[in-house]
Amino acid sequence: MVKEESSIHGMWSSRWAFILAATGSAVGLGNIWKFPYITGENGGGAFVLVYLLCIAVVGIPILSAEVMIGRKARQSPGNAFGAIAKSQKLSPWWKGVGWLGILAGFTILTFYSVVAGWSLAYFFKAGSGAFIEKSPEAMGEMLDQLMQDPQQAIIWTFTVILLTTYVVGRGVHKGLEKAVSTLMPMMFIILCVMVVYAMTTGHFSEGLSFLFTPDFSKITAEGVLIALGHAFFSLSLASGMMAMYGAYVPKEVSLFKTSVAIGLADTSVALLAGMAIFPIVFAYGLEPGQGPGLIFVTLPLAFSQMPGGLIIGALFFLMLVFAAFTSAISLIESSVAWLVERTGLSRSKAALAAGSLVMVISIGPALSFSLLSDTTLFGKTFFDLFDYVTANLMLPIGGLLMAIFVGWQMSASSVAEELNLSKTMMAFRIFIFIIKFIAPVAIALVFLSKLGILN
Ligand code: TRP
Repeated sequence: MVKEESSIHGMWSSRWAFILAATGSAVGLGNIWKFPYITGENGGGAFVLVYLLCIAVVGIPILSAEVMIGRKARQSPGNAFGAIAKSQKLSPWWKGVGWLGILAGFTILTFYSVVAGWSLAYFFKAGSGAFIEKSPEAMGEMLDQLMQDPQQAIIWTFTVILLTTYVVGRGVHKGLEKAVSTLMPMMFIILCVMVVYAMTTGHFSEGLSFLFTPDFSKITAEGVLIALGHAFFSLSLASGMMAMYGAYVPKEVSLFKTSVAIGLADTSVALLAGMAIFPIVFAYGLEPGQGPGLIFVTLPLAFSQMPGGLIIGALFFLMLVFAAFTSAISLIESSVAWLVERTGLSRSKAALAAGSLVMVISIGPALSFSLLSDTTLFGKTFFDLFDYVTANLMLPIGGLLMAIFVGWQMSASSVAEELNLSKTMMAFRIFIFIIKFIAPVAIALVFLSKLGILN
């Protein structure tokens, strides 16, 4: 394969732009909505420690492997795997891994944009004082009402998809890079303001000790698997999306070091979100083990009682919207780039085509709590089905195949070269050992347990 210096879709203007974009993809609902509540459900500190291990030992190596594939081929995952397989005389079937990834990203977006839509709606609710003096029951009803109103569900979901399509249609440099370089710093500043606010609640140390004091009696085998599965989701791995962003990385950037930076940034945001949320939860005598309602029901209760809650609440949901949005654009980017490569359409037309299809399909998940709540397939609504199939089937299978492709199929010297490492370096040996042995076994375990085979 001829080594391309750049991709036809454009390039990140610097290493920093790539770090922001990849972190923007990684940081999302997974960090701010899911990480705090699964930490709450799984007992706190010990779970956090296991999660950190999963990120360091499995997550970051797979992240480097994925970005490496993209930069080597400089194409959408749909063509990248095929191109590398061809140049290294491997089976042409490896193309399928890229397609599986594109399909996974696309499908995730159809329900991710529904939750991003709730976040957007909650930003306006928070800012207009809708949380003031609501009882816990009323707060629960407010979420139910939003979810169960078909018109609202569609409007908010479509708004998110339209904005996403618009940004992606403007291209890598003018669209994606511009969006992440404004939204990510703002998100980070709001997060820091929230943490500083949490320090004033008088329960900051309680929150910290919940997050950071490990009580190993609370850790279960299931907790370990949840931590590993979440490490994958949180780093946006296994859908080829990181390979897509990798295709736009300038050739002199060290992929290994940069992947460490992205892993650290994603993890820091999850921990900071925990540090912002738990002190507030404790200060208002609420339950950390609440489940998925933690940020949509529990936190608004706290916002309704605290001084300045209107502003703090609105800021919190604004941060959530920014985080979800920079992930949403990454979820559709591979489909759009693939369409451009395949059909030669202009980027804006390709974005419009992909965005319209996402919109049509998102009607299923968006109405899963109202008109289509009784329309089920395998006993699941569209929302649950899409979530289940992507998280439990497509991503683990994609991740497993990617690890096998890089660890067992590609030539080690080409992998080392693309990672800006040499084959004899300790870092590379550890990397290959993880990709060959540790990662596939870990993924297989999560996969089997999620399917209920190991229980
Ligand atoms: N990582 C994002 C989050 O934590 C979600 C996400 C974006 C994702 N792109 C992905 C998950 C690709 C899996 C695959 O919210």
